[in-house]
Amino acid sequence: MPIVWSADTQTFHLRNDSISYLIRVLENGKVGHLHFGGALSEERSYAHLLQREFLGFSNRLGEPVPLEYSTPGSGDYRIPAFVVEQPNGSRVLDLRYSSQRIFPGKPALGGLPVTYVESYGEADTLEILLTDSVAELEVRLYYTIFRDRPAIARHARLRNTGRAPLRIHCAMSATLDLPDSDWEFLQLSGSWARERHVVVRPLAVGSQSVASLRGASSHQHNPFVALKRPATTEEAGEAYGFSLVYSGNFLAEAEVEPFGTTRVRLGINPEDFEWALEPGAEFVTPEAIVAYSDHGLEGLTDAFAQLFRERLARGVWRDAPRPVLINNWEGTYFDFDEERLLAIATAAQGMGIELFVLDDGWFGQRDDDTTSLGDWVVNRNKLPDGLDGLARKVEALGMRFGVWIEPEMISRRSQLFADHPDWAVGLPARPRTEGRNQYVLDMSRREVVDHLFEVVSDLLSRAPISYVKWDMNRNITEPFSPTLPADRQGEFFHRYILGVYDLYERLIRAFPQILFESCAGGGGRFDPGMLAFAPQAWTSDDTDAIERLKIQWGTSLAYPLSSMAAHVSAVPNHQVGRVVPLQTRAAVAFFGVLGYELDPTTLTDEDRTVVAGQVAYYKARRELFQSGRFLRLRSPFEGDGNETAWMSVSADRKRAVVGHYRVLNRPNPGPSRLRLRGLDPAASYRVSAWPAGKDPIATANTGVRGGDELMRIGLAICSEDPADSRDRGDFHARLFNLEAEE
Ligand code: GLA
Repeated sequence: MPIVWSADTQTFHLRNDSISYLIRVLENGKVGHLHFGGALSEERSYAHLLQREFLGFSNRLGEPVPLEYSTPGSGDYRIPAFVVEQPNGSRVLDLRYSSQRIFPGKPALGGLPVTYVESYGEADTLEILLTDSVAELEVRLYYTIFRDRPAIARHARLRNTGRAPLRIHCAMSATLDLPDSDWEFLQLSGSWARERHVVVRPLAVGSQSVASLRGASSHQHNPFVALKRPATTEEAGEAYGFSLVYSGNFLAEAEVEPFGTTRVRLGINPEDFEWALEPGAEFVTPEAIVAYSDHGLEGLTDAFAQLFRERLARGVWRDAPRPVLINNWEGTYFDFDEERLLAIATAAQGMGIELFVLDDGWFGQRDDDTTSLGDWVVNRNKLPDGLDGLARKVEALGMRFGVWIEPEMISRRSQLFADHPDWAVGLPARPRTEGRNQYVLDMSRREVVDHLFEVVSDLLSRAPISYVKWDMNRNITEPFSPTLPADRQGEFFHRYILGVYDLYERLIRAFPQILFESCAGGGGRFDPGMLAFAPQAWTSDDTDAIERLKIQWGTSLAYPLSSMAAHVSAVPNHQVGRVVPLQTRAAVAFFGVLGYELDPTTLTDEDRTVVAGQVAYYKARRELFQSGRFLRLRSPFEGDGNETAWMSVSADRKRAVVGHYRVLNRPNPGPSRLRLRGLDPAASYRVSAWPAGKDPIATANTGVRGGDELMRIGLAICSEDPADSRDRGDFHARLFNLEAEE
């Protein structure tokens, strides 16, 4: 039984083979937290952990232990989980245990994306009902423990049972108290074109956090953080991971109080948030996933990547192999017509590419980014036979057809803006701030979502469209909706995201065969909320392979390979001007969902042959690259960052591909070995190099090697031969294929 309730000790023990979560109902009815971490025996009692001596929780009056859902005003002065203003203006709450329910499976969260199970046996859920009779409020806390995953899914439901409205100021999805602060805070931060770089800092007394107030999870910070011991590595040591299944404003915060204990909280950002809870109404928080690993960051990656790939992504594309695509954006930008597109598609098809994606610029008067968002009507000057005509011609080539849209946006120069100026987010009597020459549509309004559903479904039903890239190119300013009363403007950001989710849900239900890819100026909304609707995302607008090493490394900490779209683009690269060899560009883009984003008609015959070889190589290992177990071997964030290495291993450990990348070449290097992980130590693997070659490294590693040897001794990755070093040049990549022998 994964959830055991002991009436004797008033303790809940949520347990599987890797984790335990212990909750205790205190004598006064408050619900206290005892432990989350490595698995503990089911047989024993842990009631004695209630003693102050175990928790060192001295920085408060009242209860000796931290509470599962802490509130202000009764002696716990640390960051709260839940703040509600009552009719008399008080925020003091006193939530007491009322009842509990343990049931198989996992509840849905109506309107919010959520991880799920496919059979009752996959997980059990604990629901604890807390009530405050003075505030006339019910709080239901949910904890789902997955049978085979080191993770707990949490959320809370808040119901007003009284006759007067309540005002929620803060409603976290989860908090977690840890008895010490010897942790480092790991976050994925950056900016446009350099998203999700790994940033690590030691926890210090006081509060540390990452957050978004942009209306999207953001390029700047991802709604994933981890706490790791200073000595924790990829493969060893303790770490906790926290992920919010949400795409809007979030907060991930850790507070260390002066006695050295730590509280983490994760949820909708309480800044710029307020929710009026009318009598009888309920507010549901987004879901938070909290995971624990005692074998390094790799354990967290396994937990999050598998959960998100297997039980967050939905629909036919969850498990289906994703097509290799060509996208015309960097190849043509806005400058195309049907002839040019078909020439690109024809050349791409000749190289084995399976899907042609028409990016921005096909609608309205859109020859640059100053106009037409909102007018989803084909530009017949560019495409005389419409999207339909183009799509059929592409299909006749033997490829599928996909299209770019940016439904949440509106250009000032558009018919939609002329018709509905008030649909653009903004404040009356104040100028709206433009971002990329565009405004944001008010997705908190039902009629806007209905309009978009109608227009986009019409578009998708008129042409054979197999794929949609759903973009979102700017963040929200002047947050305000004229349809919300003054005391509900604090709900705007959350209602915006609920509107986005509603539109997505209606579209994926209406078009279950379409593969959706989410995008937000690259990776500005790369979060678990989006992955519940679009199983893959455009990882970054930065297509430079060297920049991508860091971006894909950071992203891989919490997200599966199947979610990371990665393209080979032209050189000099359009973001950084770097000239990286074609094989290196592919060797990086292989680890994810491969695409090409260039004009193939400009390639030399030789390069076309090379690309055809790359596509064939990828297709032969597609499962490995899209859903293999990803292991990080050498970090671009450590040392001088000159080397990166990673690998992907099949579930049965029979196949693997290792990628090794060197940014700058070094003269006369010393010997260097790369130890692998995740292999079957007893298996024999046939090792070969890609690209195949006769250089000393390829030759030295080619042959049959034991899994034990590859993990304990490793591959040779550096040659002392001066000729080899001279031939290699900068921005070098090499892959090694491992195939187990029968
Ligand atoms: C965003 C996307 C790009 C491209 C452009 C089109 O920047 O991230 O991939 O689609 O918009 O305008």
